[in-house]
This record gives sequence, structure tokens and C-alpha cells, in this order.
Amino acid sequence: MVKIAPSVLSANFAELKKDLDSIKACGADWVHYDVMDGHFVPNISFGYSILNDVAKVTDLYLDVHLMISHPRQYVEQFIKAGADLITFHIETMTNHETVHELIDYIHQQGKNVGISIKPATPVEDIIDYLDDIDLVLVMSVEPGFGGQSFQVDALKKIAKLKEMRNHHHYLIEVDGGINAQTGQACIEAGADVLVAGSYIFNATNRQAAVDSLK
Ligand code: DX5
Ligand code: ZN
Repeated sequence: MVKIAPSVLSANFAELKKDLDSIKACGADWVHYDVMDGHFVPNISFGYSILNDVAKVTDLYLDVHLMISHPRQYVEQFIKAGADLITFHIETMTNHETVHELIDYIHQQGKNVGISIKPATPVEDIIDYLDDIDLVLVMSVEPGFGGQSFQVDALKKIAKLKEMRNHHHYLIEVDGGINAQTGQACIEAGADVLVAGSYIFNATNRQAAVDSLK
């Protein structure tokens, strides 16, 4: 069954524990934690010190999505703060060696590794790493903000990644503009994990919102 990863970017940070408890009670599987640096993306969100607090008050799996220009420089702090999965963007990396080094480093710390691709980045750009990673994060909006509309081209990438999975083990996660309709289309294309921010946190009935994604 598909996993649901609510993005706390849309949570109320003054009531974060309440929101974390609420998504757990609604049957969320993971917490999706969007880190933005105001450089790789034109927005700033939160960093590892808040993650450290989040980790203390929830036992949900912590899915950390790094939308930052220098992931290697900060990854240790996010792992120390309690990340279970670290996903970095391929667009931030300059060469194969540094990608492999970062993947190996995260695995050596006993954590899972994902690579994310922006809407304009083809799946082909990460083919060399598919053997070594635990997850591919397909962005279905331009990273930076919650509440944008789903870009349908993501479905083709999901289907392609599913087709290519034969001898790999990665999960396929999709992020951006997910609601009951787009979520269903992603599941049909082959997604294993759905990230949803505004659809869940702004819902008048969160339970119904989570249920509608499964
Ligand atoms: C966008 C973030 C998403 C965002 C999704 O840059 O990576 O995780 O919170 O928000 P919605 O579900 O509202 O599109
Ligand atoms: Zn995200």
C-alpha cells in the first residue's frame, strides 16, 4: 500500500506537536520535512535545530527533503538531528564522485538516501545512481513553495522509474500538488510514497484527506 508523507511545510509551527500527533492519528506513515535555503530555492523554511525538536516528539519516520545548495556541508547535522532518510537534489551536485561520496556517507551513518529531480530534470540524469539509492523523489512542482498545481509530466517519470526498477530496490516518491485525484494518478503510474502538504494540513477533515490518498 502507498505510504503517505504529510509535508510539515504546511503545518502550524506554533502548534507543531499537535499537528504531528494529528497526522499520526490520521494514519500518516512518514513526516516529510522540507528544508529550503533561499538559494537553491527562492524561499527559506527551517533547518536541523527544529528537526531535532521534531524528532523528540514523534516516532514517525523522518523524511528530510534538502532543497539546499550544499547538501554535503549540512548532512551530518540533519542526521544527528534524527533524519531517517536524506534526499538531496541532483541539480546541486557538480560531478559523479561527489554524488557517490554523499550517498556512501549517508549509508555509512546507517540512514537511507534519496535523490530528487526537479520538473525540468530528466530521469536519465540519475540513472548512474539507481543501484545505490533507497528512493527517488520526483518533483511534480517547482520546488520552493507549497500549494502549487501538479505538473502532469511527473507521471511519465514515475512510470519510467517503475519500468526501470527491475533490478533496483528504490521507492518512488512524488512531491507537489498532491490531492485525491493527482494522488490516484501517481499511484496508478507506480508511486510508492505520496507527499502532501496543503491538501492534508488545510483540510477541514484531515482524516478524510489522508484516507482519500490511500
Ligand atoms: C515544495 C515542497 C513540497 C511541498 C508540497 O517545494 O517540496 O513538499 O510542501 O506542498 P503541496 O502538497 O501543498 O504541494
Ligand atoms: Zn518536499
